Amino acid sequence: MKIFSSLLTFALLCIASVYSYTIGLKALVLHTQEDETFQNTIYGLESYGIPFDAFIINNTDHILTGNLSLYDEEGNPKYYLVILISGKLSSETADKTFTSSLSDEQWAYLDAYEQTFNVRRVTFSDTPESITGTSIYDASTWGNTYIQKIVGADNEIANEIYKRAGIKKDAPIATNNNFYHTPVTITNPDIATPVFYFEACEKIKERTVGAIYAKLEDGRERLSFFLPTASWSLDTIVLNHLWIHWGTRSIYNGIRRVTFSPHIDDVFISTNCVSTESSYESGITLGSESFRISKADLDDYLKFKDEILKKMPAGSSFNVDLAINGNGLLPVGDQLQVDGNRYVTLDYVKPMGEGMNNWPVEHYVPNWTDEYLAQDDLFQYFKNKENRSKFFWCSHTFTHENLDNASRSDVDNEIRVNIEMAKKLDLINEEWWSGRSIITPQISGLHSGDALEIFREYGIVSATGDISRADITNNSNPYLPFITTKGSSHVENFPIIPRSPTEIYFYASTPEEDTYIYNYMYHSYFGSDSTWEQILQRESTRALRLIMLLRHEAHQFHQANMRSDDSNEHQSLLQRWVEAVVNEYTKYADWPLVSLKLDDLNQLSIDRYNAEQCHASYKILVKDGYATEILINNPSEHDCVLPITVPDDVVRQSEYKFEQLGNDPLTVWVKVGANEESITLSPPLKWNPAFISSPATSTTTTKATTTAAPQPTTQPATQPTTPPATGDSTVYRHWFDDFFATDWYSCGNVEYECKQLKSDQCYAEVNQCWIKVPWPESGDLCNEMNVICAKIWTYVK
Ligand SMILES: *[C@@H]1O[C@H](CO)[C@@H](O)[C@H](O)[C@H]1NC(C)=O
Ligand SMILES: *[C@@H]1O[C@H](CO)[C@@H](O)[C@H](O)[C@H]1NC(C)=O
Ligand SMILES: *[C@@H]1O[C@H](CO)[C@@H](O)[C@H](O)[C@H]1NC(C)=O
Ligand SMILES: *[C@@H]1O[C@H](CO)[C@@H](O)[C@H](O)[C@H]1NC(C)=O
Ligand SMILES: *[C@@H]1O[C@H](CO)[C@@H](O)[C@H](O)[C@H]1NC(C)=O
Ligand SMILES: *[C@@H]1O[C@H](CO)[C@@H](O)[C@H](O)[C@H]1NC(C)=O
Repeated sequence: MKIFSSLLTFALLCIASVYSYTIGLKALVLHTQEDETFQNTIYGLESYGIPFDAFIINNTDHILTGNLSLYDEEGNPKYYLVILISGKLSSETADKTFTSSLSDEQWAYLDAYEQTFNVRRVTFSDTPESITGTSIYDASTWGNTYIQKIVGADNEIANEIYKRAGIKKDAPIATNNNFYHTPVTITNPDIATPVFYFEACEKIKERTVGAIYAKLEDGRERLSFFLPTASWSLDTIVLNHLWIHWGTRSIYNGIRRVTFSPHIDDVFISTNCVSTESSYESGITLGSESFRISKADLDDYLKFKDEILKKMPAGSSFNVDLAINGNGLLPVGDQLQVDGNRYVTLDYVKPMGEGMNNWPVEHYVPNWTDEYLAQDDLFQYFKNKENRSKFFWCSHTFTHENLDNASRSDVDNEIRVNIEMAKKLDLINEEWWSGRSIITPQISGLHSGDALEIFREYGIVSATGDISRADITNNSNPYLPFITTKGSSHVENFPIIPRSPTEIYFYASTPEEDTYIYNYMYHSYFGSDSTWEQILQRESTRALRLIMLLRHEAHQFHQANMRSDDSNEHQSLLQRWVEAVVNEYTKYADWPLVSLKLDDLNQLSIDRYNAEQCHASYKILVKDGYATEILINNPSEHDCVLPITVPDDVVRQSEYKFEQLGNDPLTVWVKVGANEESITLSPPLKWNPAFISSPATSTTTTKATTTAAPQPTTQPATQPTTPPATGDSTVYRHWFDDFFATDWYSCGNVEYECKQLKSDQCYAEVNQCWIKVPWPESGDLCNEMNVICAKIWTYVK
């Protein structure tokens, strides 16, 4: 440690003249293994689109020799944010002891880098210690799995961190699912300021500290979390936004945008809903009565639309996208009878030129007159422009034929005749119509090169996918489209945009019907029936997790889900679902919810894909201690549009587009070709306050406040620096024979609900371990069990 601090002094002395430099707009992530915290951190960065380099360093197969590589070829610092996935990057050595994966010299090199360029450091599972003004709350247990509420602290720094992130300090988050965490206490309030607390619980009678902002004596700044995170845990996903905004100072090449776009499939055709006469155990039988949305349903929906908008955060917009099948507007007797079923497997790659002719004729030419179509109520209703304008619109093909094994002629009929119907409704070229994308029936035809070629003939350049289907999802990055290849579809480079199915089903029009189907499918998972309220609660948690990961998937519904008549208390399933999600969402964040029409939603994903092809590099120019400009270079041949978010404002240049809704920070969309582009920050952002003596220097980040620092009743006698693991735990092991005999991974890789249950049970056992096994034997044994539980979720995306 002596070497360590003298190096720092040395660094301090020789950097006194480094006022001006350019620094890369990129994060450095250091980790010792591919664990959940690492995965979730990467998701956090990807959710915004922030580039990073991740390096695995550990004491077995990834030993770092020499110093970290922190400078580019010209000697400029590459990273403006350092993220440590675990406290001291501790890992096991070959002889089974735990020690830091970096040497003192390597640490000193990183410390000096951070200090020289005022780079902030974020650490998960940090080790409390005197340099950060903290110590462990209870020296006899490193951590616990009690469920404790996580509540934002009340001081200037914490307020600023939460405000920038747009996260509510009283968001209902906690160490749910028995999430392992380490209660901490602040020993030096001049260094450490609490950011959030673990609230008291039955086992721990006072509130303890869960995260701190630390300003070290030498001026370096840190945000330390005393818990890991995980991408399955909504609670800890929420925390991503705190460290991202603090760590980047809200300058990042990305955007925090929540899209909220329900899709209604099968509009204009009718649906036979499930019969709930007998018990769901006898299976799914459809009722004889068919349901089709009416003007009354639409009126109810429009009332709801106005109300829900009022509940959403400032800057929000709300619209559903109606995916229409024009056949349903014809008089019932005149509707075309085309076999719509799928007879091939979901991933069937149709040979070019083959396929079924299910239509009565090739190149069908409709001869509908307006008077003829006006026999239909809905046609009349939507012939009125104002009525059309309240929705987004797109094509779902004319008759809803499955396109997986359809001939070119059938595909042409399905696409062209539906466009003819859209023309009859005057939709084409209206701003709410999406002509460049399609939602295919049963998400079919995407492995058919013939279908893709015909889509392109009609100007349709993207289609909607389904994240529950691996064959059409970009499994390496959920923020990007699946791009077809010759192998997947015979035709290359057609983007398939992810969409999320919901537990609101195709043949359900009421809560009773939906619950019936849900229990039919999930009764065995839960070992009991679920109520409609439980279904909605799980659905809002599921949707909220996607939202908090800034995933842009639209949410799938069907026309029967808009039923809103007397049998349904004038509240459609769609309405109930949206209300539940919005109510839950607004407890967490104040970011706007934005509905985008299909073309725009898909373009967002395609733009992001193109941006990745650009491999642009971004730098911040720091002059005399102020960040003044962001410089963007595109070394590739591609043109692309790149989002850059800034904390305040920029000098407005006409060639850029500016986006800022509600409480959002400003995002500048920059079109990048071969030339370097630059954005001038206005006002410039204070970068290294240490060198600026003007009175304008903010005090909020230099003065740690002492409000509400918890006062532990007993001071721990020792301060372990790594999780202590001593004592012979084998004596107590037999108490948990059942635990070790259980196959905790039986859910496989996909079932969210199943894993939730397993994980609850698993952590309950870990809790028992902490309670029953005495210290220090509990250290070994309970941590071993904890590791087993943590893996239940390992592969969840
Ligand atoms: C690492 O950096 C330190 C400080 O700059 C330097 O003294 C040392 O020689 C470097 N180590 C290696 C292996 O290059
Ligand atoms: C080091 O990293 C490798 C690769 O991820 C991993 O298999 C190994 O378990 C790690 N070693 C330690 C001690 O964590
Ligand atoms: C797919 O279409 C071809 C016609 O080209 C037909 O012969 C074949 O039976 C169809 N496959 C299935 C599984 O229906
Ligand atoms: C439209 O065409 C169908 C046959 O394709 C014919 O039976 C019908 O009479 C025609 N309707 C009008 C209005 O011309
Ligand atoms: C347009 O909608 C309103 C109610 O939203 C309805 O009263 C009116 O009849 C509709 N227009 C037509 C032409 O159906
Ligand atoms: C997924 O996205 C990557 C870009 O990161 C792209 O190169 C790849 O082709 C995509 N994968 C699929 C299966 O589309």
